Amino acid sequence: MSAPTLAPGEIDAARESLAAWFERAQRPLPWRATRDPWAIWVSEIMLQQTRADSVIPYWRRFLEAFPTPAALASRPVEDLLDLWAGLGYYARARHLHAAARRVVEVHAGRVPPSAADFAALPGVGRYTLGAVLSIAFDTPLPVLDGNVARVLSRLVALDADPKALSTQRALWSLAEQLVPSRGAGAHNQALMELGATVCTPRQPACLVCPWQTRCAARRLGLEATLPRAAARTAQTRHTLVAALCLEDSPEGPAVWLVRRPLEGLLGGLWELPCVEVPVDPGATSPDPLRALGLEPDADTPPRSIEHAFTHRRWTLHTWRARGVPPAHLGAEVAHVPCAHLAQVALSGPALKALLAWGVEGAPRRRGAGRARREG
Ligand code: ADE
Repeated sequence: MSAPTLAPGEIDAARESLAAWFERAQRPLPWRATRDPWAIWVSEIMLQQTRADSVIPYWRRFLEAFPTPAALASRPVEDLLDLWAGLGYYARARHLHAAARRVVEVHAGRVPPSAADFAALPGVGRYTLGAVLSIAFDTPLPVLDGNVARVLSRLVALDADPKALSTQRALWSLAEQLVPSRGAGAHNQALMELGATVCTPRQPACLVCPWQTRCAARRLGLEATLPRAAARTAQTRHTLVAALCLEDSPEGPAVWLVRRPLEGLLGGLWELPCVEVPVDPGATSPDPLRALGLEPDADTPPRSIEHAFTHRRWTLHTWRARGVPPAHLGAEVAHVPCAHLAQVALSGPALKALLAWGVEGAPRRRGAGRARREG
């Protein structure tokens, strides 16, 4: 597929009507009131996969705790994960921590304004590069996230597989053609804002859209059908048996938790001691927990939850049990009073299991609505 091109006159008019709309209609989001590249970087990382209204309290707390890259770099990554609890996509937090350390070591603690230097930092892909440098330094680089992809697909009525490389190339090319040499930060934010608030996936509000007369999808009556839905990713199924070991402590009932290894799925998050067993949609037995040195209560039926990741699906059967999970292979183990559970970076499945058992103190809702699932 050759990338669609926009005529120069069309580009100027499209930029102008978008800018005028953004001036009038933008939400007063707190990261729009700062030029601090660190604060903007943090907001852009948090905004990937999480809605703006959910991000606001996390962003404020994060910058209070870590107002500079040096403040974050001086702390262990576990401190950051606790603050991130509920936002999901913890790999983002781990990358940001690694990037802050590099900024301190290589760039004297200052966010590098050079595109080559910034792009070399951990976790910085083309989206983060364009978003942070355009908003913080007005560097004329494009952005393409899910919202912008939808807006641009509709603008030119691009009817193609959204996951195909050729489609991504065409959309990046359109974003690049549209980004102005001055005012790139406001332009990029306007495009993202249009996708978040007007050009929404279902029932776009075309009547208030600054591009309603130039939008090819609207002209063709395709605004509700484009962009095409992506094919669903295949999921593998996994069955796990977990233990809820509740015991009294000086601070009231407390539950035994184990921290997952920092690398990999749900890295660094706390969960109930568990073992994976062969997938069996029928009966479940608590016996595999004995391999952890735990004594399951086989007379009390387990409570089961499902948790979907991008590429896998867990069924987790949780049994009441007694004993202390072993701190084998260097895993951290903690006896956490239930009253403190809201301050712990719990994995999503662990939170669901605790709620399924009605454990007092487990936070009822995660702080952040997630747009997608963690994989
Ligand atoms: N989504 C991600 N970053 C954004 C921003 N700066 N403005 C609006 N929506 C966004």
